[in-house]
Amino acid sequence: MKPWTCLALACALLGSTNAKSASGDRVLVLVPKVESAKHYSKFLGSLETRGFEVSIRAASNTSVALQIDGERAFDHAVLLAPAAKKFGDGLGPLDFTRFVDDGGNMVVAASSELSDFHRKLAAQFGVVFEPRSTWAIDHANYMKQNNASDHKVVAASNFAPAPAILSPGFAGTLAKNQQKPAVYFKGIAHKYDVANPQLVPLLTGAITTYSGKDKGEKPIENANAPLNGKSLGLVSVFQTRSNARVAFAGSTAMFSDALLSKRGGDNQRFVEDVAKWTMQEKSVLRETGHRHHLSETGEQPSHYRVSNEIVYEIDLSVYRDDAWHPYVADDVQFEAIMLDPYIRTTLNRTDSTLSASETATYHGDIKLPDRYGTFTFRVNYKRTGYSNVDVKDTVAIWPLRHDGYPRFLSAAYPYYTGSFVMVIGFLALCAVWLFSDEPENTEKAAAAASKEKSKAKNKAKNKSS
Ligand SMILES: *[C@@H]1O[C@H](CO)[C@@H](O)[C@H](O)[C@H]1NC(C)=O
Ligand SMILES: *[C@@H]1O[C@H](CO)[C@@H](O)[C@H](O)[C@H]1NC(C)=O
Ligand SMILES: *[C@@H]1O[C@H](CO)[C@@H](O)[C@H](O)[C@H]1NC(C)=O
Repeated sequence: MKPWTCLALACALLGSTNAKSASGDRVLVLVPKVESAKHYSKFLGSLETRGFEVSIRAASNTSVALQIDGERAFDHAVLLAPAAKKFGDGLGPLDFTRFVDDGGNMVVAASSELSDFHRKLAAQFGVVFEPRSTWAIDHANYMKQNNASDHKVVAASNFAPAPAILSPGFAGTLAKNQQKPAVYFKGIAHKYDVANPQLVPLLTGAITTYSGKDKGEKPIENANAPLNGKSLGLVSVFQTRSNARVAFAGSTAMFSDALLSKRGGDNQRFVEDVAKWTMQEKSVLRETGHRHHLSETGEQPSHYRVSNEIVYEIDLSVYRDDAWHPYVADDVQFEAIMLDPYIRTTLNRTDSTLSASETATYHGDIKLPDRYGTFTFRVNYKRTGYSNVDVKDTVAIWPLRHDGYPRFLSAAYPYYTGSFVMVIGFLALCAVWLFSDEPENTEKAAAAASKEKSKAKNKAKNKSS
Protein backbone atom coordinates (compact mmCIF):
# COMPACT_ATOMS: atom_id res chain seq x y z
CA MET A 1 0.00 0.00 0.00
CA LYS A 2 1.25 3.48 -0.82
CA PRO A 3 1.98 5.68 2.18
CA TRP A 4 -0.64 8.25 1.27
CA THR A 5 -3.31 5.56 1.04
CA CYS A 6 -2.36 4.47 4.56
CA LEU A 7 -2.63 8.04 5.71
CA ALA A 8 -6.01 8.50 4.10
CA LEU A 9 -7.21 5.27 5.70
CA ALA A 10 -5.90 6.32 9.09
CA CYS A 11 -7.60 9.70 8.73
CA ALA A 12 -10.87 8.03 7.75
CA LEU A 13 -10.69 5.70 10.74
CA LEU A 14 -9.82 8.53 13.08
CA GLY A 15 -12.59 10.63 11.61
CA SER A 16 -15.16 7.90 12.03
CA THR A 17 -14.29 7.31 15.66
CA ASN A 18 -14.20 10.99 16.54
CA ALA A 19 -17.07 12.40 14.56
CA LYS A 20 -20.06 12.81 16.83
CA SER A 21 -22.09 14.68 14.28
CA ALA A 22 -23.65 13.01 11.29
CA SER A 23 -22.69 15.91 9.06
CA GLY A 24 -19.16 17.00 10.03
CA ASP A 25 -17.20 18.32 12.96
CA ARG A 26 -15.76 21.70 12.01
CA VAL A 27 -17.29 24.39 14.23
CA LEU A 28 -16.80 28.12 13.80
CA VAL A 29 -17.42 30.07 17.00
CA LEU A 30 -17.74 33.82 16.59
CA VAL A 31 -17.27 35.89 19.73
CA PRO A 32 -16.82 39.66 20.19
CA LYS A 33 -13.17 39.20 21.14
CA VAL A 34 -11.14 36.00 21.30
CA GLU A 35 -10.73 36.54 25.05
CA SER A 36 -14.49 36.62 25.63
CA ALA A 37 -14.61 32.92 24.74
CA LYS A 38 -13.53 32.19 28.30
CA HIS A 39 -17.03 33.09 29.52
CA TYR A 40 -18.29 30.11 27.55
CA SER A 41 -15.53 27.67 28.46
CA LYS A 42 -17.93 24.99 29.69
CA PHE A 43 -20.12 25.09 26.63
CA LEU A 44 -17.22 25.21 24.17
CA GLY A 45 -15.30 22.62 26.20
CA SER A 46 -18.23 20.20 25.96
CA LEU A 47 -18.16 20.61 22.17
CA GLU A 48 -14.48 19.74 22.13
CA THR A 49 -14.93 16.70 24.34
CA ARG A 50 -17.64 15.49 21.99
CA GLY A 51 -15.08 15.47 19.20
CA PHE A 52 -15.68 18.79 17.46
CA GLU A 53 -12.89 20.80 15.98
CA VAL A 54 -13.69 24.23 17.43
CA SER A 55 -12.26 27.38 15.80
CA ILE A 56 -12.79 30.47 17.96
CA ARG A 57 -12.62 33.71 16.00
CA ALA A 58 -13.22 37.33 16.84
CA ALA A 59 -16.20 38.88 15.04
CA SER A 60 -13.92 41.53 13.57
CA ASN A 61 -11.29 39.11 12.22
CA THR A 62 -11.36 39.88 8.52
CA SER A 63 -9.80 36.57 7.47
CA VAL A 64 -12.84 34.60 8.63
CA ALA A 65 -14.65 33.07 5.66
CA LEU A 66 -17.63 30.75 5.55
CA GLN A 67 -16.65 29.44 2.13
CA ILE A 68 -13.30 28.60 0.66
CA ASP A 69 -13.15 27.97 -3.11
CA GLY A 70 -16.91 27.52 -3.28
CA GLU A 71 -16.89 24.87 -0.54
CA ARG A 72 -18.20 25.27 2.97
CA ALA A 73 -15.25 25.94 5.28
CA PHE A 74 -17.20 24.88 8.38
CA ASP A 75 -20.02 22.47 9.15
CA HIS A 76 -21.49 24.44 12.03
CA ALA A 77 -21.42 28.07 13.13
CA VAL A 78 -22.05 29.36 16.65
CA LEU A 79 -22.70 33.10 16.86
CA LEU A 80 -22.04 34.44 20.34
CA ALA A 81 -21.43 38.07 19.35
CA PRO A 82 -24.91 39.65 19.33
CA ALA A 83 -23.68 43.24 19.07
CA ALA A 84 -21.56 42.64 15.96
CA LYS A 85 -22.90 44.47 12.90
CA LYS A 86 -21.08 42.17 10.48
CA PHE A 87 -18.62 39.35 10.63
CA GLY A 88 -15.30 38.70 8.98
CA ASP A 89 -14.68 40.62 5.81
CA GLY A 90 -18.20 42.01 5.46
CA LEU A 91 -20.18 38.79 5.87
CA GLY A 92 -23.85 39.79 6.03
CA PRO A 93 -27.05 37.94 6.95
CA LEU A 94 -27.39 36.59 3.41
CA ASP A 95 -23.97 34.95 3.60
CA PHE A 96 -25.13 33.10 6.67
CA THR A 97 -28.44 32.04 5.11
CA ARG A 98 -26.44 30.79 2.11
CA PHE A 99 -24.29 28.85 4.56
CA VAL A 100 -27.45 27.18 5.87
CA ASP A 101 -28.77 26.57 2.34
CA ASP A 102 -25.47 24.84 1.70
CA GLY A 103 -26.15 22.42 4.55
CA GLY A 104 -24.42 24.25 7.38
CA ASN A 105 -25.98 24.35 10.85
CA MET A 106 -26.10 27.40 13.05
CA VAL A 107 -26.65 28.38 16.68
CA VAL A 108 -27.46 32.08 17.00
CA ALA A 109 -27.42 33.67 20.45
CA ALA A 110 -28.80 37.17 20.84
CA SER A 111 -29.06 39.60 23.71
CA SER A 112 -30.67 42.92 24.49
CA GLU A 113 -27.95 44.68 22.49
CA LEU A 114 -28.52 42.77 19.33
CA SER A 115 -27.52 44.32 16.05
CA ASP A 116 -29.49 44.73 12.84
CA PHE A 117 -27.45 41.88 11.42
CA HIS A 118 -29.00 39.45 13.89
CA ARG A 119 -32.46 40.92 13.46
CA LYS A 120 -32.30 40.46 9.68
CA LEU A 121 -30.81 37.00 9.93
CA ALA A 122 -33.50 35.86 12.36
CA ALA A 123 -36.27 37.37 10.24
CA GLN A 124 -35.23 35.04 7.39
CA PHE A 125 -36.32 32.14 9.58
CA GLY A 126 -39.56 33.60 10.93
CA VAL A 127 -38.08 34.80 14.22
CA VAL A 128 -38.69 38.47 15.04
CA PHE A 129 -36.74 39.80 18.00
CA GLU A 130 -38.17 42.51 20.23
CA PRO A 131 -36.77 46.06 20.06
CA ARG A 132 -33.28 46.70 21.41
CA SER A 133 -32.79 47.22 25.14
CA THR A 134 -35.83 45.21 26.09
CA TRP A 135 -35.70 42.13 28.23
CA ALA A 136 -37.75 39.09 28.96
CA ILE A 137 -38.95 39.80 32.52
CA ASP A 138 -40.83 37.68 34.99
CA HIS A 139 -41.73 38.71 38.53
CA ALA A 140 -42.91 35.26 39.53
CA ASN A 141 -40.37 32.91 37.97
CA TYR A 142 -36.85 34.23 38.32
CA MET A 143 -33.54 33.07 39.68
CA LYS A 144 -34.04 33.16 43.43
CA GLN A 145 -30.58 32.43 44.86
CA ASN A 146 -29.45 35.91 44.19
CA ASN A 147 -29.61 38.31 47.16
CA ALA A 148 -30.21 41.23 44.88
CA SER A 149 -32.84 39.20 43.08
CA ASP A 150 -32.84 39.91 39.38
CA HIS A 151 -36.20 39.55 37.67
CA LYS A 152 -34.48 39.66 34.31
CA VAL A 153 -33.04 36.20 34.90
CA VAL A 154 -36.19 34.31 34.00
CA ALA A 155 -36.53 30.75 35.20
CA ALA A 156 -38.29 29.45 32.12
CA SER A 157 -39.94 26.06 32.16
CA ASN A 158 -42.39 26.10 29.28
CA PHE A 159 -40.83 23.48 26.99
CA ALA A 160 -42.22 22.35 23.68
CA PRO A 161 -43.29 18.69 23.62
CA ALA A 162 -40.49 17.72 21.23
CA PRO A 163 -38.88 14.48 22.41
CA ALA A 164 -36.75 14.39 19.26
CA ILE A 165 -34.99 17.57 20.38
CA LEU A 166 -35.15 17.67 24.17
CA SER A 167 -34.09 14.89 26.50
CA PRO A 168 -36.83 13.04 28.46
CA GLY A 169 -36.66 15.25 31.58
CA PHE A 170 -37.84 18.26 29.60
CA ALA A 171 -40.21 16.79 27.07
CA GLY A 172 -41.90 13.94 28.92
CA THR A 173 -44.32 14.01 31.80
CA LEU A 174 -42.79 14.51 35.21
CA ALA A 175 -42.44 11.71 37.72
CA LYS A 176 -43.95 12.25 41.19
CA ASN A 177 -41.92 14.56 43.47
CA GLN A 178 -39.81 15.53 40.50
CA GLN A 179 -39.19 19.24 40.32
CA LYS A 180 -40.11 20.96 37.11
CA PRO A 181 -36.92 21.68 35.19
CA ALA A 182 -36.15 25.37 34.70
CA VAL A 183 -33.73 27.11 32.39
CA TYR A 184 -32.23 30.46 33.40
CA PHE A 185 -32.64 32.91 30.60
CA LYS A 186 -31.36 36.46 30.60
CA GLY A 187 -31.94 38.31 27.37
CA ILE A 188 -34.39 39.35 24.74
CA ALA A 189 -37.69 37.74 23.72
CA HIS A 190 -38.93 37.11 20.20
CA LYS A 191 -42.11 36.55 18.26
CA TYR A 192 -42.17 33.45 16.14
CA ASP A 193 -44.09 32.53 13.03
CA VAL A 194 -46.83 30.25 14.35
CA ALA A 195 -47.88 29.13 10.88
CA ASN A 196 -44.47 27.76 9.92
CA PRO A 197 -44.23 24.04 10.68
CA GLN A 198 -40.45 24.13 10.20
CA LEU A 199 -40.08 26.41 13.21
CA VAL A 200 -40.44 24.92 16.69
CA PRO A 201 -40.72 27.27 19.70
CA LEU A 202 -38.63 25.14 22.00
CA LEU A 203 -38.75 27.36 25.08
CA THR A 204 -41.49 29.92 25.63
CA GLY A 205 -42.50 32.19 28.47
CA ALA A 206 -44.83 31.49 31.37
CA ILE A 207 -48.08 33.43 31.59
CA THR A 208 -46.28 35.90 33.88
CA THR A 209 -43.36 36.48 31.51
CA TYR A 210 -43.41 39.63 29.43
CA SER A 211 -41.12 41.66 27.28
CA GLY A 212 -40.26 45.07 28.69
CA LYS A 213 -37.75 47.78 29.41
CA ASP A 214 -35.45 47.33 32.33
CA LYS A 215 -36.32 50.62 34.03
CA GLY A 216 -39.71 50.74 35.67
CA GLU A 217 -40.16 47.14 34.53
CA LYS A 218 -43.42 47.90 32.79
CA PRO A 219 -44.57 46.16 29.63
CA ILE A 220 -43.75 48.12 26.51
CA GLU A 221 -46.70 50.07 25.25
CA ASN A 222 -46.83 49.40 21.58
CA ALA A 223 -49.62 48.98 19.12
CA ASN A 224 -49.02 45.25 18.72
CA ALA A 225 -50.41 42.77 21.14
CA PRO A 226 -47.98 42.47 24.03
CA LEU A 227 -45.90 39.34 24.07
CA ASN A 228 -46.43 37.01 26.94
CA GLY A 229 -46.97 33.38 27.75
CA LYS A 230 -46.79 30.95 24.89
CA SER A 231 -46.48 33.66 22.25
CA LEU A 232 -43.28 34.94 23.84
CA GLY A 233 -40.43 32.94 22.34
CA LEU A 234 -37.18 32.50 24.22
CA VAL A 235 -35.49 29.72 22.24
CA SER A 236 -36.75 28.55 18.83
CA VAL A 237 -35.30 26.05 16.41
CA PHE A 238 -35.73 25.76 12.66
CA GLN A 239 -35.11 22.93 10.24
CA THR A 240 -34.89 23.66 6.53
CA ARG A 241 -36.30 21.40 3.83
CA SER A 242 -32.77 20.23 3.13
CA ASN A 243 -32.43 19.25 6.81
CA ALA A 244 -30.02 21.97 7.89
CA ARG A 245 -30.77 23.14 11.42
CA VAL A 246 -30.72 26.56 13.05
CA ALA A 247 -31.31 27.52 16.68
CA PHE A 248 -32.17 31.02 17.89
CA ALA A 249 -31.75 31.86 21.56
CA GLY A 250 -32.44 35.35 22.83
CA SER A 251 -29.75 35.02 25.47
CA THR A 252 -26.00 34.63 25.24
CA ALA A 253 -25.95 34.46 29.03
CA MET A 254 -27.72 31.11 29.08
CA PHE A 255 -24.64 29.59 27.40
CA SER A 256 -22.24 31.24 29.82
CA ASP A 257 -20.39 29.51 32.62
CA ALA A 258 -22.14 31.74 35.16
CA LEU A 259 -25.62 30.42 34.35
CA LEU A 260 -24.58 26.97 33.17
CA SER A 261 -23.36 26.04 36.63
CA LYS A 262 -26.13 27.71 38.65
CA ARG A 263 -27.82 25.32 41.01
CA GLY A 264 -31.52 24.85 40.53
CA GLY A 265 -31.21 25.44 36.80
CA ASP A 266 -30.97 22.93 33.99
CA ASN A 267 -29.06 25.12 31.57
CA GLN A 268 -26.27 22.60 31.14
CA ARG A 269 -28.62 19.87 29.91
CA PHE A 270 -30.83 22.19 27.91
CA VAL A 271 -27.98 23.93 26.12
CA GLU A 272 -26.42 20.56 25.36
CA ASP A 273 -29.71 19.27 23.92
CA VAL A 274 -30.03 22.34 21.71
CA ALA A 275 -26.43 22.10 20.52
CA LYS A 276 -26.63 18.36 19.91
CA TRP A 277 -29.80 18.66 17.91
CA THR A 278 -28.59 21.64 15.89
CA MET A 279 -25.23 20.10 15.10
CA GLN A 280 -26.86 16.90 13.81
CA GLU A 281 -25.81 14.71 16.72
CA LYS A 282 -29.31 13.35 17.31
CA SER A 283 -32.61 12.73 15.54
CA VAL A 284 -30.99 12.60 12.11
CA LEU A 285 -33.15 10.36 10.00
CA ARG A 286 -32.17 8.72 6.73
CA GLU A 287 -33.52 6.23 4.25
CA THR A 288 -31.00 3.55 3.40
CA GLY A 289 -32.99 1.73 0.77
CA HIS A 290 -36.43 1.06 -0.63
CA ARG A 291 -37.90 -1.39 -3.14
CA HIS A 292 -41.18 -2.69 -4.50
CA HIS A 293 -42.15 -5.83 -6.38
CA LEU A 294 -45.07 -8.05 -7.34
CA SER A 295 -46.09 -10.12 -4.35
CA GLU A 296 -46.72 -13.23 -6.50
CA THR A 297 -43.42 -13.52 -8.31
CA GLY A 298 -41.20 -11.30 -6.18
CA GLU A 299 -39.80 -9.50 -9.19
CA GLN A 300 -39.98 -5.87 -10.13
CA PRO A 301 -41.44 -5.48 -13.62
CA SER A 302 -40.86 -2.42 -15.80
CA HIS A 303 -44.51 -1.55 -15.26
CA TYR A 304 -47.38 -2.85 -13.19
CA ARG A 305 -50.89 -3.68 -14.35
CA VAL A 306 -54.01 -2.27 -12.71
CA SER A 307 -55.00 -3.98 -9.45
CA ASN A 308 -51.68 -5.83 -9.15
CA GLU A 309 -50.79 -6.88 -5.63
CA ILE A 310 -47.37 -5.54 -4.72
CA VAL A 311 -45.04 -5.33 -1.73
CA TYR A 312 -43.38 -2.03 -0.87
CA GLU A 313 -40.43 -1.87 1.53
CA ILE A 314 -38.36 0.96 2.97
CA ASP A 315 -35.40 0.97 5.39
CA LEU A 316 -35.01 3.80 7.90
CA SER A 317 -32.28 4.54 10.42
CA VAL A 318 -31.75 7.28 12.95
CA TYR A 319 -28.47 8.75 14.15
CA ARG A 320 -27.91 9.27 17.87
CA ASP A 321 -25.18 8.61 20.41
CA ASP A 322 -22.52 8.40 17.75
CA ALA A 323 -24.10 5.60 15.72
CA TRP A 324 -26.92 4.70 13.36
CA HIS A 325 -29.80 2.81 14.96
CA PRO A 326 -33.00 1.30 13.55
CA TYR A 327 -35.72 3.93 13.47
CA VAL A 328 -38.80 2.59 15.23
CA ALA A 329 -42.15 4.31 14.69
CA ASP A 330 -45.71 3.36 13.91
CA ASP A 331 -46.61 6.21 11.60
CA VAL A 332 -44.61 5.61 8.43
CA GLN A 333 -47.02 6.07 5.56
CA PHE A 334 -46.95 5.01 1.93
CA GLU A 335 -48.78 6.89 -0.78
CA ALA A 336 -49.57 6.08 -4.40
CA ILE A 337 -50.23 9.39 -6.06
CA MET A 338 -51.49 10.46 -9.47
CA LEU A 339 -52.33 14.13 -8.79
CA ASP A 340 -54.34 12.90 -5.78
CA PRO A 341 -53.30 10.11 -3.47
CA TYR A 342 -55.16 6.97 -4.55
CA ILE A 343 -53.69 4.96 -1.69
CA ARG A 344 -52.43 6.17 1.66
CA THR A 345 -51.65 3.46 4.14
CA THR A 346 -49.50 2.96 7.20
CA LEU A 347 -46.61 0.56 6.71
CA ASN A 348 -45.90 -2.25 9.17
CA ARG A 349 -42.47 -2.79 10.68
CA THR A 350 -40.74 -6.03 9.77
CA ASP A 351 -39.63 -7.12 13.23
CA SER A 352 -36.98 -9.58 12.17
CA THR A 353 -34.80 -6.80 10.81
CA LEU A 354 -34.39 -5.06 14.15
CA SER A 355 -31.84 -7.24 15.90
CA ALA A 356 -28.22 -6.29 15.40
CA SER A 357 -29.04 -3.98 12.57
CA GLU A 358 -28.67 -0.30 11.80
CA THR A 359 -31.97 -0.06 10.01
CA ALA A 360 -35.59 -0.92 10.54
CA THR A 361 -37.53 -2.17 7.53
CA TYR A 362 -41.13 -1.18 6.96
CA HIS A 363 -43.32 -3.03 4.50
CA GLY A 364 -46.82 -2.98 3.15
CA ASP A 365 -48.89 -5.37 1.05
CA ILE A 366 -50.59 -3.06 -1.36
CA LYS A 367 -53.23 -3.63 -4.02
CA LEU A 368 -52.67 -1.09 -6.76
CA PRO A 369 -55.65 1.05 -7.78
CA ASP A 370 -57.95 -0.01 -10.62
CA ARG A 371 -56.72 2.92 -12.63
CA TYR A 372 -53.95 3.16 -15.17
CA GLY A 373 -51.47 6.02 -15.59
CA THR A 374 -48.18 7.26 -14.20
CA PHE A 375 -48.16 7.02 -10.44
CA THR A 376 -45.67 8.17 -7.83
CA PHE A 377 -44.90 5.83 -4.94
CA ARG A 378 -43.97 8.12 -2.10
CA VAL A 379 -42.96 7.97 1.54
CA ASN A 380 -43.05 11.54 2.81
CA TYR A 381 -42.09 11.44 6.46
CA LYS A 382 -41.91 14.77 8.29
CA ARG A 383 -41.99 14.81 12.08
CA THR A 384 -41.05 17.56 14.52
CA GLY A 385 -37.36 17.42 15.30
CA TYR A 386 -36.50 14.63 12.88
CA SER A 387 -34.87 15.14 9.51
CA ASN A 388 -37.30 14.99 6.62
CA VAL A 389 -37.42 11.82 4.56
CA ASP A 390 -39.07 12.11 1.17
CA VAL A 391 -38.64 9.09 -1.11
CA LYS A 392 -40.32 9.06 -4.52
CA ASP A 393 -40.49 6.53 -7.34
CA THR A 394 -42.29 7.10 -10.60
CA VAL A 395 -44.10 3.96 -11.69
CA ALA A 396 -46.22 3.21 -14.76
CA ILE A 397 -49.44 1.28 -14.25
CA TRP A 398 -50.83 -0.22 -17.48
CA PRO A 399 -54.34 -1.44 -18.27
CA LEU A 400 -54.88 -5.18 -18.59
CA ARG A 401 -54.01 -6.95 -21.89
CA HIS A 402 -56.96 -7.98 -24.12
CA ASP A 403 -56.61 -11.52 -22.76
CA GLY A 404 -55.81 -10.42 -19.26
CA TYR A 405 -59.40 -9.97 -18.20
CA PRO A 406 -61.14 -12.75 -16.26
CA ARG A 407 -63.15 -15.18 -18.44
CA PHE A 408 -66.27 -15.11 -16.28
CA LEU A 409 -67.37 -12.19 -14.19
CA SER A 410 -69.27 -13.06 -11.07
CA ALA A 411 -71.36 -9.95 -11.46
CA ALA A 412 -72.64 -11.24 -14.80
CA TYR A 413 -73.92 -14.62 -13.59
CA PRO A 414 -77.60 -13.57 -13.84
CA TYR A 415 -77.06 -12.81 -17.54
CA TYR A 416 -75.23 -16.09 -18.15
CA THR A 417 -78.11 -17.89 -16.46
CA GLY A 418 -80.61 -15.86 -18.48
CA SER A 419 -79.12 -16.87 -21.83
CA PHE A 420 -78.82 -20.55 -20.89
CA VAL A 421 -82.44 -20.54 -19.74
CA MET A 422 -83.37 -19.00 -23.11
CA VAL A 423 -81.52 -21.72 -25.09
CA ILE A 424 -83.00 -24.52 -23.02
CA GLY A 425 -86.45 -23.02 -23.37
CA PHE A 426 -86.13 -22.79 -27.15
CA LEU A 427 -85.00 -26.40 -27.47
CA ALA A 428 -87.80 -27.55 -25.23
CA LEU A 429 -90.33 -25.67 -27.33
CA CYS A 430 -88.97 -27.21 -30.55
CA ALA A 431 -89.16 -30.67 -29.07
CA VAL A 432 -92.69 -30.13 -27.96
CA TRP A 433 -93.71 -28.79 -31.35
CA LEU A 434 -92.02 -31.57 -33.32
CA PHE A 435 -93.03 -34.57 -31.36
CA SER A 436 -96.44 -33.81 -30.03
CA ASP A 437 -99.25 -35.91 -31.66
CA GLU A 438 -102.47 -34.02 -32.38
CA PRO A 439 -105.48 -36.26 -33.39
CA GLU A 440 -107.52 -33.37 -34.85
CA ASN A 441 -104.77 -32.64 -37.27
CA THR A 442 -104.63 -36.26 -38.58
CA GLU A 443 -108.36 -36.28 -39.31
CA LYS A 444 -108.01 -33.06 -41.23
CA ALA A 445 -105.11 -34.52 -43.13
CA ALA A 446 -107.09 -37.64 -43.93
CA ALA A 447 -109.99 -35.54 -45.15
CA ALA A 448 -107.64 -33.50 -47.28
CA ALA A 449 -106.13 -36.70 -48.69
CA SER A 450 -109.56 -38.16 -49.63
CA LYS A 451 -110.48 -34.81 -51.21
CA GLU A 452 -107.36 -35.04 -53.32
CA LYS A 453 -108.22 -38.60 -54.26
CA SER A 454 -111.71 -37.67 -55.47
CA LYS A 455 -110.24 -34.70 -57.38
CA ALA A 456 -107.83 -37.05 -59.11
CA LYS A 457 -110.74 -39.44 -59.89
CA ASN A 458 -112.76 -36.60 -61.39
CA LYS A 459 -109.81 -35.61 -63.52
CA ALA A 460 -109.42 -39.15 -64.80
CA LYS A 461 -113.18 -39.27 -65.58
CA ASN A 462 -113.02 -36.05 -67.56
CA LYS A 463 -110.06 -37.36 -69.54
CA SER A 464 -111.79 -40.62 -70.49
CA SER A 465 -114.97 -38.83 -71.54
C1 LIG B 1 -8.05 35.54 12.30
O1 LIG B 1 -8.44 34.30 11.72
C2 LIG B 1 -7.37 33.53 11.18
C3 LIG B 1 -7.94 32.28 10.55
O2 LIG B 1 -9.13 32.55 9.85
C4 LIG B 1 -6.39 33.20 12.29
O3 LIG B 1 -5.31 32.47 11.73
C5 LIG B 1 -5.91 34.46 12.97
O4 LIG B 1 -5.09 34.14 14.09
C6 LIG B 1 -7.09 35.29 13.43
N1 LIG B 1 -6.61 36.57 13.97
C7 LIG B 1 -6.86 36.95 15.21
C8 LIG B 1 -6.34 38.28 15.56
O5 LIG B 1 -7.45 36.25 15.97
C1 LIG C 1 -26.31 37.16 50.43
O1 LIG C 1 -26.77 37.36 51.74
C2 LIG C 1 -26.02 36.67 52.72
C3 LIG C 1 -26.65 36.84 54.07
O2 LIG C 1 -27.76 37.69 54.03
C4 LIG C 1 -24.59 37.18 52.69
O3 LIG C 1 -23.81 36.46 53.62
C5 LIG C 1 -24.00 36.98 51.30
O4 LIG C 1 -22.70 37.52 51.23
C6 LIG C 1 -24.88 37.65 50.27
N1 LIG C 1 -24.39 37.32 48.95
C7 LIG C 1 -24.26 38.24 47.99
C8 LIG C 1 -23.78 37.72 46.67
O5 LIG C 1 -24.53 39.39 48.15
C1 LIG D 1 -50.29 -4.19 8.57
O1 LIG D 1 -50.64 -5.28 9.38
C2 LIG D 1 -52.04 -5.39 9.64
C3 LIG D 1 -52.25 -6.54 10.62
O2 LIG D 1 -51.51 -7.63 10.26
C4 LIG D 1 -52.79 -5.59 8.34
O3 LIG D 1 -54.16 -5.63 8.57
C5 LIG D 1 -52.46 -4.42 7.42
O4 LIG D 1 -53.09 -4.63 6.15
C6 LIG D 1 -50.98 -4.27 7.23
N1 LIG D 1 -50.73 -3.07 6.46
C7 LIG D 1 -50.13 -3.10 5.26
C8 LIG D 1 -49.97 -1.79 4.59
O5 LIG D 1 -49.72 -4.12 4.76
